[in-house]
Amino acid sequence: LELRCERDGAELRLDAHPALAVNRAALLPPPGGPGDAAGQALPVESRPFASYGSALHLALPQAPRAGQLLTLLIDYEAGEGPGVCWLSPEQTAGKQKPYMYTQGQAVLNRSFFPCFDTPSVKFTYSATVKVPEGFTAVMSATSWEKQKDNTFAFKMSQPIPSYLIALVVGDIVSADVEPRSRVWAEPCLIEAAKKEYDGVIEEFLMVGEKLFGPYVWGRYDILFMPPSFPFGGMENPCLTFVTPCLLAGDRSLVDVIIHEISHSWFGNLVTNATWGEFWLNEGFTMYAQRRISTEVYGLPYTCLEAATGRALLRQHMDATGEDHPLNKLRVVIEPGINPDDTYNETPYEKGYCFVSYLAHLVGNQSKFDAFLQAYVNRFKFQSITADDTLEFFLEYFPELKEKGVDSISGFEFDRWLNTPGWPPYLPDLSPGQQLMRPADELAELWAADGLNMEAIEAVDITGWRTYQLVYFLDQVLQKSPLPEGNVKRLSKMYPKISKAQNAELRLRWCQIVLKNNLEAEYSKVKDFLHSQGKQKYTLPLYRAMWGGSEATRALAMETFSATASQLHVNVQNYVKKIL
Ligand code: BES
Ligand code: ZN
Repeated sequence: LELRCERDGAELRLDAHPALAVNRAALLPPPGGPGDAAGQALPVESRPFASYGSALHLALPQAPRAGQLLTLLIDYEAGEGPGVCWLSPEQTAGKQKPYMYTQGQAVLNRSFFPCFDTPSVKFTYSATVKVPEGFTAVMSATSWEKQKDNTFAFKMSQPIPSYLIALVVGDIVSADVEPRSRVWAEPCLIEAAKKEYDGVIEEFLMVGEKLFGPYVWGRYDILFMPPSFPFGGMENPCLTFVTPCLLAGDRSLVDVIIHEISHSWFGNLVTNATWGEFWLNEGFTMYAQRRISTEVYGLPYTCLEAATGRALLRQHMDATGEDHPLNKLRVVIEPGINPDDTYNETPYEKGYCFVSYLAHLVGNQSKFDAFLQAYVNRFKFQSITADDTLEFFLEYFPELKEKGVDSISGFEFDRWLNTPGWPPYLPDLSPGQQLMRPADELAELWAADGLNMEAIEAVDITGWRTYQLVYFLDQVLQKSPLPEGNVKRLSKMYPKISKAQNAELRLRWCQIVLKNNLEAEYSKVKDFLHSQGKQKYTLPLYRAMWGGSEATRALAMETFSATASQLHVNVQNYVKKIL
C-alpha cells in the first residue's frame, strides 16, 4: 500500500476480517532511498469491529506528518472470508473444474485484502496472479497480460474504490464480440454468450458516451458467472460480472447490461462517498440506463420496463410499510451495521424518480443530458454526497436556484432525501400504455369470477415481448389469489409462461403459484431455486413460501437444505433469517 498521510499524527488502521491472517507488516524505505529492502517490521493487532469485519491496527515507529508518503508491505493469507467464493466443480456450468470469484460490494473486500474498505477512498492497483494449469484469471483491470507459468499480470490505471476490485479464476474462455468488448464464460456457455450480445454492446457504449461523456475504462468485457452468482450484474470496471440467467436466447434481459454499462459513469466514475448515499450510484444509474434504453429501443418500451421497476418499489413498500426508515434516499447506517443489510428497491426506483424530478424541473431533456455530462466531468474519480450533487445542480441552473426549487412545498430536496415513503413525484410512463394496456386488460379478464374464455382467447400473446409478459404477471400477482381454478387454467393456456425458461418469467410464475397455492406446480419453485442463486429471485420466493401454508413452509425447508451450500454466504444468511 502506498499511502499519503492526510494530517499530522494520524494513526494507521485498515479494514480487514478475522478470516484474513496477517503474517507480517513492514514499513518500506522510500523508493530509491537508503534502508533495508525488507523494511522495518511493524506491530500489528487485529481488533474486533463488527459482524462483517475487524480493524487492523498498525503501529508506526513515529507519528507521520501531513503529506508524508508511506509504503507498507503486508504479507497475509486470505480465502475463507465472505468476499472470496470457492465453488466445487458441481457448482459450475461445466461441472469439470472448480471456480473462484470475489464479490466486493458493499464491504466484503476487506476479507480479500487489507485496505480502506470505504467507497470514499480511491486508488489504482496492480496484481500478479498465479493459477494452476488449465485455469485462467481475470480481474477488473485496464490491462491484462498472460505471462509464463500460468501467471497473469493486471493493472488498473484509474483510481477506483475498494469494492470494485474483483478476481475470477476458473476454466473460462473468451470470444471477441465487438471492437472493445469480449465475452467470458465457461467453455460450454461461450457460444450462447457470444450469440446473446454480439452486435449490441458497442451501440450502448456509444450512446452512453454521447450522453454522459467519454468512456474512460478502455475495454468493456462481460463475464458470465456460475449460476450461484448472487446478482443480476456487478459493474466491476472493464469487466462486468453477470448471472448466466441473462442467456435467455433472445436478448430480452439486456437491460441488465445497459444498467451495468451506465455504472461506468454513475458509480464507477462518480461514486457515493458512503453506503448511506447508495442512491447516488443506483438512482442515477437507473436514470442513465433508461436514457440509453430510450435512445436505442424507444420510449414506449423503456416506459414498460420502468413500470416493472415501479411495481417492485410498490411491492417493497407494501411489504415494509412506507414509513420504514430504509425507504428514504439517504439512509442512516449506524456503526457496526452491515450496509448490505440495508439493500432494497428504494435507492434504485425512488432514486430514479428523484433524478427524473430534477429533469422535470429543468423541463428540457437535452439541457438535462448536458447537466449530467457536466456533473460526471465535475466529479469524475471522486466520491461525493447528495449535497455535492444538489449544490452542483443548483449552481448549474442558477434560474432554478433563484426560483427556490429546492424548497417547493411537498417536493423539498430535504424531503426527498430524508423522509421515508412513496416518491412525491413519478415520471410519466404513459408512453408505455400501448404495451401495458393489453396486459392490464388481460390480467383483468383472468381475475374475474366466471372466466370469459371468449374474450381471453381473443387476445393473442404470442408476439408479446418478455417485459409485457412480466408486466402482465405482475398484475396477476397483485390480484392474486385469483378465484379458484383460474391459475390452473392460465397455466394450461400459456405454456409460454408456465413453462418459461426465462428467469424473470420463472420468478413471477413461481410467485403466482405460491400465492395461489397451486400445489401441482410447487416443483417449479424448487427447480428454479435449484437452478440459480440470485438474491433478488431467491429471497422473495422464500418469503412467499414462509408466509404461505404448511406445505409451502415444508417446501422452503426442503429446498433450502438441499441448496444452501450452493448459495453465496450473504444470501444464505438472509434466507436463514426468513426461515
Ligand atoms: N451494483 C449492483 C449490485 C450490488 C448492489 C451488489 C449492492 C452488491 C451490493 C448492480 O449494479 C445492480 O444494481 N444489479 C442489479 C441489476 C438491475 C438493477 C438491472 C441486479 O443485480 O439485479
Ligand atoms: Zn446497479
